[in-house]
Amino acid sequence: MTKVFPEGFLWGGATAANQYEGAYNLDGKGLTVQDVTPKGGFGPITEEPTPDNLKLEGIDFYHRYKEDIALFAEMGFKVFRTSIAWARIFPNGDEIEPNEAGLQFYDDLFDELAKYGIEPLVTLSHYETPLHLAKEYDGWTNRKLIGFFERYARTVFTRYKDKVKYWLTFNEINSVLHAPFMSGGILTPPEKLSKQDLYQAVHHELVASALATKIGHEINPDFKIGCMVIAMPAYPLTPNPVDVLEARQFENQNYLFSDIHVRGKYPNYIQRFFKEEGIEIDFAEGDKELMAENPVDFISFSYYMSVTATADPEKQARAKGNILGGVPNPYLEASEWGWQIDPIGLRMVLNAFYDRYQIPLFIVENGLGAKDVLVDGPDGPTVEDDYRIDYLEKHLKQVGEAMKDGVELWGYTTWGCIDLVSASTAEMSKRYGFIYVDRNDDGSGTLARYKKKSFNWYKDLIASNGENLFS
Ligand code: BG6
Repeated sequence: MTKVFPEGFLWGGATAANQYEGAYNLDGKGLTVQDVTPKGGFGPITEEPTPDNLKLEGIDFYHRYKEDIALFAEMGFKVFRTSIAWARIFPNGDEIEPNEAGLQFYDDLFDELAKYGIEPLVTLSHYETPLHLAKEYDGWTNRKLIGFFERYARTVFTRYKDKVKYWLTFNEINSVLHAPFMSGGILTPPEKLSKQDLYQAVHHELVASALATKIGHEINPDFKIGCMVIAMPAYPLTPNPVDVLEARQFENQNYLFSDIHVRGKYPNYIQRFFKEEGIEIDFAEGDKELMAENPVDFISFSYYMSVTATADPEKQARAKGNILGGVPNPYLEASEWGWQIDPIGLRMVLNAFYDRYQIPLFIVENGLGAKDVLVDGPDGPTVEDDYRIDYLEKHLKQVGEAMKDGVELWGYTTWGCIDLVSASTAEMSKRYGFIYVDRNDDGSGTLARYKKKSFNWYKDLIASNGENLFS
């Protein structure tokens, strides 16, 4: 019988520096936009972290990475996704010389992964733009950021050229339209930010992504460099063509980013939107060629939910928790945070991307944020997280269906394979991991790690290369 997942399929887990490293001000690290959002990326911004408003400082991976990586290895991880905190390397973002202590930390981390044969998958920018770039330049609205990012990318590509093969440029690059500060370091409040400036910022990030892809391939032609987008299929609320059109237009908002990364040019549908909104993107000399000549090697994406669209303004009240908008889908259940759970949507997203571009895909985030309760087990404290196993199993079965449909998928990394701080709410209690971390929303806790029931489930799944999903 043919196997569903090919030999060498990259199973693993995903994290981001700002959500799990801690040590936010150690060894020369500068502040990032995350350090001043104590309530999470959608919450208010504070001046600077103080003992009163300090954001929960990750889970101290910075000092415990050896212990944590050993646990990932025990589960059989083939790949581990993390980000490099830009501000560990360039504390302000606009320096000329990098911070050696920061570079050394990631050397040690990648060496530790290599000991177990775990492939790193590294995001260059995961919601952690150096704060100085937000304050001084208004983040990506300013073209100068391209140069700063170029220096940063060149530095880490060169340093880790023999240690890291898989790279992502910007985490969920399309989120800048919805969370300009967290995603794009744009300090201007959303209500004052013009669409012109927002889309110009998008352009700068897209140029920077193409430039990083170019430089990366020059430094090591074996690098595989991908874009990373939020994937979200949109369903019409009714078969009324106006709703169908609404759904289509919603999807275009997201496709814009993968279209440009893969096809190297702005699609026609966005020209009309720009015209109607009076937006004129300022292209510098060479931007067009750079984008056209440096498409990504693969598309990576996060998948948590689908969205339901309607043209009826009365129904357009936001679905609770649906960060990109939409209305509740009566056929779907939601997580405790209102994220509508839709495994079949994942199969559709995989097929839609693959049909559209026919380049390899990588699922780099998927998982269930839930409130876990620690209980006594035969081998010590644990969590009976059958709900998480159920969620992942249902999604992975649909991934298998998509592979049978012919989709080329390189790997799958669950989000937050070890409990970490939530990006949107800064809560610790929104847990995704296979490994429980003893830390509470108020910062109390020992930081001890405990295996949840899902730990052994994932271990067995990886050992069978996904086959036990279908037995
Ligand atoms: C993605 C982000 O949006 O979703 C992660 O790339 C984030 O950084 C994840 O943590 C889950 O979201 P949240 O808000 O539950 O942490």
